[in-house]
Amino acid sequence: MPIPVLLVLCVALTDALTAFPPKFLVGNLNKDVVVKCNTSKLQVAWTQNGEPEPMAELLAEGRTLTILGLDLPATGNYSCWDGGVLLDSTYVVVGNSGEEGRNVSCQAESYRGSFHCSWLGPHSAVFRARLTHSNGSVGDWVHAAGHGGRFSTSFTDPSFCPFAEELRPLQLSFEGISDTSFLNFSIHFFVRDIVRPDPPQELTARMQGGQLHLAWAPPASWSLPKSYFALLYWLQYELPNGTQVDAFVEGTEKMSLQERVQRVRISCQDPYTNSSWSPWSGWWEVDTAWLRGG
Ligand SMILES: *[C@@H]1O[C@H](CO)[C@@H](O)[C@H](O)[C@H]1NC(C)=O
Ligand SMILES: *[C@@H]1O[C@H](CO)[C@@H](O)[C@H](O)[C@H]1NC(C)=O
Ligand SMILES: *[C@@H]1O[C@H](CO)[C@@H](O)[C@H](O)[C@H]1NC(C)=O
Ligand SMILES: *[C@@H]1O[C@H](CO)[C@@H](O)[C@H](O)[C@H]1NC(C)=O
Ligand SMILES: *[C@@H]1O[C@H](CO)[C@@H](O)[C@H](O)[C@H]1NC(C)=O
Ligand SMILES: *[C@@H]1O[C@H](CO)[C@@H](O)[C@H](O)[C@H]1NC(C)=O
Ligand SMILES: *[C@@H]1O[C@H](CO)[C@@H](O)[C@H](O)[C@H]1NC(C)=O
Repeated sequence: MPIPVLLVLCVALTDALTAFPPKFLVGNLNKDVVVKCNTSKLQVAWTQNGEPEPMAELLAEGRTLTILGLDLPATGNYSCWDGGVLLDSTYVVVGNSGEEGRNVSCQAESYRGSFHCSWLGPHSAVFRARLTHSNGSVGDWVHAAGHGGRFSTSFTDPSFCPFAEELRPLQLSFEGISDTSFLNFSIHFFVRDIVRPDPPQELTARMQGGQLHLAWAPPASWSLPKSYFALLYWLQYELPNGTQVDAFVEGTEKMSLQERVQRVRISCQDPYTNSSWSPWSGWWEVDTAWLRGG
């Protein structure tokens, strides 16, 4: 009968955190931690991870609980109760200054002040992050989505000005909690250094007068006006014998080729900040009918 197996599995899964706990305390190993129950009641009962018999040496006094000499089994969810009524919960973790969870990589598709970051952390962790805006104000915590040890989330700085030179870097602070420990780190960067445009769009090719006329449009997400936010385009095309040719153009969205071209694709870059190149567009296969007839 499979039911008992399922029950065991469910009990095991509820131990992992699924969201960043609203209230948590970071303690040091072998030091005492004082947990307070936010209530007007004078006496409360405590549970650790739902258990009335905690795996820790404790001292309960009124609405205060002291964990004596914090160790890993003593970490977790401490809840205070008045009879059957839940009053408050605090998640207790051990501070961790290790290098677990890093390799932050951020990308902006334009100068609109929005960007996306991803980073690595322990598989069981939950993360939140917040942005210190370019005007110095501190944003709200944003909860991250995680899968298999890779976490990601998006940010927006509403005070970001696309037209001004960035004088101060943005700061991002990260906090993570895995079953037993807390980890945090922060990074600084300029938006101009993380810009990577989306691929140009609407690439089309048309034969006319013995020439191949190519036309395209800037990525929809790119900043406007065009005159200010220029793009350098990289066209790559393949000749019938397989030779690949690269062409670069700036300040235009069309180009004509004399050669017989089999297929073509396009990428773009901000020429002023020497940003990363966008991903490539898909290959545009030139209709080979004219090649054969040609
Ligand atoms: C801690 O336990 C309480 C009571 O069981 C529960 O309501 C709460 O969601 C738990 N908190 C976390 C972060 O798991
Ligand atoms: C205690 O609870 C009150 C009422 O729910 C809330 O307004 C206050 O922010 C809480 N204080 C702490 C330290 O959690
Ligand atoms: C993190 O980044 C460093 C340097 O870029 C790289 O050597 C390392 O392999 C990365 N770690 C993981 C787990 O991807
Ligand atoms: C900074 O910008 C944010 C978002 O636009 C705004 O809410 C905040 O009041 C600004 N703070 C300062 C100090 O200008
Ligand atoms: C990490 O968290 C501790 C405790 O909250 C704080 O003092 C420290 O500044 C944080 N460090 C970073 C890099 O965010
Ligand atoms: C491929 O064709 C181009 C243009 O016809 C020619 O310049 C080039 O040398 C050829 N390359 C090879 C490897 O045959
Ligand atoms: C742009 O960056 C590339 C590679 O990072 C470098 O080789 C090139 O010299 C840079 N060009 C300018 C104009 O800074």
